[in-house]
Amino acid sequence: MNKQQTTDVVIIGAGAAGLMCAIAAAEEGKQVHLLDHANKAGKKILISGGGRCNFTNMYTEPSNYLGHNPHFCKSALNRYTPWDFIAQVDKAGLPWHEKKLGQLFSDNKSQAILTMLLERCDQLGVTIVLDFSISSVTKTGETFSISNANAVYQSPSLVIATGAMSFPTMGATDFGHRLAKQFGLAVTPTYPGLVPFTFDAKEKAQFDGLSGTSVDVLIEVNNTSFRENILFTHKGLSGPAVLQISSYWTPGDTVTVRCLPDTDIAAELKDKQQSQPKKHLHKLLQSYLPLSVIQCFCEGIDLQKPLHNYKHTELQAIADLIQHWQFIPSGTEGYKKAEVTCGGVNTDEISSKTFEAKKVKGLYFIGEVLDVTGQLGGFNFQWAWASGFCCGKAL
Ligand code: FDA
Repeated sequence: MNKQQTTDVVIIGAGAAGLMCAIAAAEEGKQVHLLDHANKAGKKILISGGGRCNFTNMYTEPSNYLGHNPHFCKSALNRYTPWDFIAQVDKAGLPWHEKKLGQLFSDNKSQAILTMLLERCDQLGVTIVLDFSISSVTKTGETFSISNANAVYQSPSLVIATGAMSFPTMGATDFGHRLAKQFGLAVTPTYPGLVPFTFDAKEKAQFDGLSGTSVDVLIEVNNTSFRENILFTHKGLSGPAVLQISSYWTPGDTVTVRCLPDTDIAAELKDKQQSQPKKHLHKLLQSYLPLSVIQCFCEGIDLQKPLHNYKHTELQAIADLIQHWQFIPSGTEGYKKAEVTCGGVNTDEISSKTFEAKKVKGLYFIGEVLDVTGQLGGFNFQWAWASGFCCGKAL
């Protein structure tokens, strides 16, 4: 016979949002069971931030998030701010630092952040059940039943914190979206976000030699731009600028990349043509960017001549190649390499105060499973903490 357990709250997904929600609910005296199909809680916390967990961003604003309703995230972000999470980190005595642009990282390995959350769960008596592969979720009357082959958990409150499809090797699934649909809730179309672009054969051949090279650029798509580094890879383009812009890209859109965004190269080349006419163009260009980068951008163009041998139109064309490179990515590296999933459970279905589904009493959705996606830089964890906290307090 299956083991039966009745509890105040079942949370499915022991990731960032689920752990925070469990803590917030247990602090209010709720008996909480946190179920996860993985063999370890918080796997994405462990691999995040290159192993040092970029756990929040000091400058978090609603404008750092994508989603079809840009207002949905405001309430939770106001009620649980980066400083609330920093206070937890400080209380646990964990050192941290700002890397850049308000991005806060743990000085120690990401494990320190996960241990802090797990210890708090332990102090509060949260029961974490791992290796729990759910076979069904049903609701009878006011009670949810969550079953696997050996056990059934019954509860009036069920929180879905299963994240979404990015990085399946870390236990990511579309379980939350399927469950939403099972209960009649809409899910907005999903696609990989914060993900590298792939090149088609032409660009691959052109930039083949640059794999591993990083360049500071302004990158633009659909009227959104980021100033950060791009990184050439053997498949295409990555680096923070590309990850950021990928969340705003839809297949077929043209991406514009501007190297040396603070410099008007055409004007400078024309100036130098007057002041140093005998200087060779390739020598001059090397004072701005590595020769390998210039050669790839200006493929097939003779850069070896002295400046006085070039017409103004030729200098302008060379500057355009460097400062106005446009290409259409052949695609992205997909969920396998995406840091987040854009889209998700439609936020029109969910209360922004409690995270309860408007149509299904007792059913809650938090974290990445929702159609709320942060930009790169600690915003996604801040959303997980904020939505988890506000939901936990409302249970
Ligand atoms: P999360 O994915 O963390 O947790 C979901 C949990 O549900 C998992 O434990 C999973 O096993 C479980 N689950 C899934 N399906 C299930 C099922 N069917 N049954 C039971 N359990 C199930 N963000 C940031 O702010 N700073 C950073 O430094 C990084 N770095 C980073 C690096 C990499 C490589 C990735 C892939 C992602 C990041 N992120 C990030 C994004 C961040 O990790 C992500 O936004 C949050 O982990 C989302 O938190 P959730 O709790 O919503 O889902």
